[in-house]
Amino acid sequence: MMTQALRSAVTLSLLTLSVTLQAAPAVSTGHGGAVATISEQASQAAIHILDSGGNAIDAAVAAAATLGVTDPFSCGIGGGGFMLIYSAADDKVISIDHRETAPAYFNAGIFQQDGEAMEWEDVVPTGISVGVPGTVLGWQEALHRYGTMSFEQTLAPAIEVAEKGFTLGDNFHRIAQKNEHKFSRFEPSRELYLKDGKALPAGSHFRNPDLAATYKAIAKGGADAFYEGDIARDIVTAVNKPPVVDGVKVLSAAMTLNDLKDYEIRIRQPIHSTYRGYDVYGMAPPSSGGIAIAQALNLLETVDLSTRSRAEVEHLYLEASRLAFADRNAYVADTEFTDVPVEGLLSKEYAKHRAPLMEKQAAGKREPGDPFVYQNDPSVPLRPSSATLMQESAHTTHLAVSDRHGNVVAYTFTIEDWGGSGIVVPGRGFLLNNELTDFDFSAPHPNVAEAYKRPRSSMSPTIVMRDGKPAFTIGSPGGSTIITTVLQTMVNHVDLGMPLADALAAPRMSQRNGETTLVETMFNFPGSEQAKALEAMGHHFAETDQIGAANGIAFNNDGTVTAVSEPTRHGVGTALVQKQ
Ligand code: GLY
Repeated sequence: MMTQALRSAVTLSLLTLSVTLQAAPAVSTGHGGAVATISEQASQAAIHILDSGGNAIDAAVAAAATLGVTDPFSCGIGGGGFMLIYSAADDKVISIDHRETAPAYFNAGIFQQDGEAMEWEDVVPTGISVGVPGTVLGWQEALHRYGTMSFEQTLAPAIEVAEKGFTLGDNFHRIAQKNEHKFSRFEPSRELYLKDGKALPAGSHFRNPDLAATYKAIAKGGADAFYEGDIARDIVTAVNKPPVVDGVKVLSAAMTLNDLKDYEIRIRQPIHSTYRGYDVYGMAPPSSGGIAIAQALNLLETVDLSTRSRAEVEHLYLEASRLAFADRNAYVADTEFTDVPVEGLLSKEYAKHRAPLMEKQAAGKREPGDPFVYQNDPSVPLRPSSATLMQESAHTTHLAVSDRHGNVVAYTFTIEDWGGSGIVVPGRGFLLNNELTDFDFSAPHPNVAEAYKRPRSSMSPTIVMRDGKPAFTIGSPGGSTIITTVLQTMVNHVDLGMPLADALAAPRMSQRNGETTLVETMFNFPGSEQAKALEAMGHHFAETDQIGAANGIAFNNDGTVTAVSEPTRHGVGTALVQKQ
């Protein structure tokens, strides 16, 4: 626990928080703790906590809570996430799964009408898309198990930003504008994020006193203040009787107070694999991220990429991703509800068996393979007849923090779609997620909806070690493109030799076992030499908005750290290293 002197230091430094904001560097190198987030205020909050004696876990919670204020459309206490922690004292990587769960009333038919799967867009802005939020309990457990500070201390920066307010940037405005229709359906969302039905303009001063009060209640009462009592009652009412404006009808949920009270986090062993001398740690199910990335790296490791041209490396990256996604789409779901062939999917022998499919020419969509014969127990629980890629939103947020003691946090959290379900809990200042639309809508499938189940995720907080020490950490938003962003950044860094900052800034391509590969409109990819070389190998491209807004930290051989944030996408991020 913090001493009085330390507490005073935090309070003092917080007083200066709003005036010390500087231009946002996307790369910083130095000694000491480091942070990378998409929000200047969030990165500053983390640095203040580190400067005040907190560790990386304390700083990650402070940054995350601040992101809930400054980037409320991608994350917040109405959602859930996955925190990967390298604990230097334990010399161990663990993960805290605080994914949203389905309430007790859920069943496989919930997203069907007349035997047909409902449209994803129709389900998002309703009460039934809302899972029981996990973020507050996740933060509490992280602080309790690995932190040194209290909620009161770590939520203080976010409370200050929410109370004093901040100037809205173009990105905040752009996302609110995209969500005008969704927010205008719900009274409290309309009041908070729109003016006369239109998104608040960039340059407006935005305050969220309701969220400040909610954070204060959590700071005082801990997670119980969220999962029991008045806030819990308000959440249940908001999903069961959504606060719609006159004339709007939406599907309502049947969540109970027990659904909130019974919410549990999971401490999980991460997925561990190796790649060219590195130890790679990723998120286990219910996220598909750790398995898919390890599987694609195992496929790539069968080839000596050092002798290949950039185009050949990128072709192989795309085809390895395609094969990993063929299996991911078919087999991966919440392991508490379905037998996922994790051991087979991670097997190097299985990768060798599948690797010849990464031929010289892209051959289009692939069928899932047979990882079951690479399991110790080769029984086959469920083989879905199809392996479709369910629709997912390309949103969410990722932050990276390290400290002087050697602890590292890679933390991805979300409310799913931009603005989640669109429902702000009346009087509480935060949006509720639509995470349950990450379930497959058609049964039978391992990822079908069930009571208390966690929907499959793609979130991929990743920590990479070399010779027993952290080498780099990386993560990204972007729905199922999270997996390809993290994978491509690793290939850029490890195989193409780019410094982490360049690896992260490079144009992205995302192949998730579809007919076409997504590329970002902002990089003028079609027609480029890079595109032509890949087209000659059978790839077809479709342009899309930005893919991911990644953040990472590299731990350099000379003992310095380099924090790296998105230099271009999402209105740029902020990477900071503690000053000596
Ligand atoms: N909803 C995004 C994810 O969980 O991957």
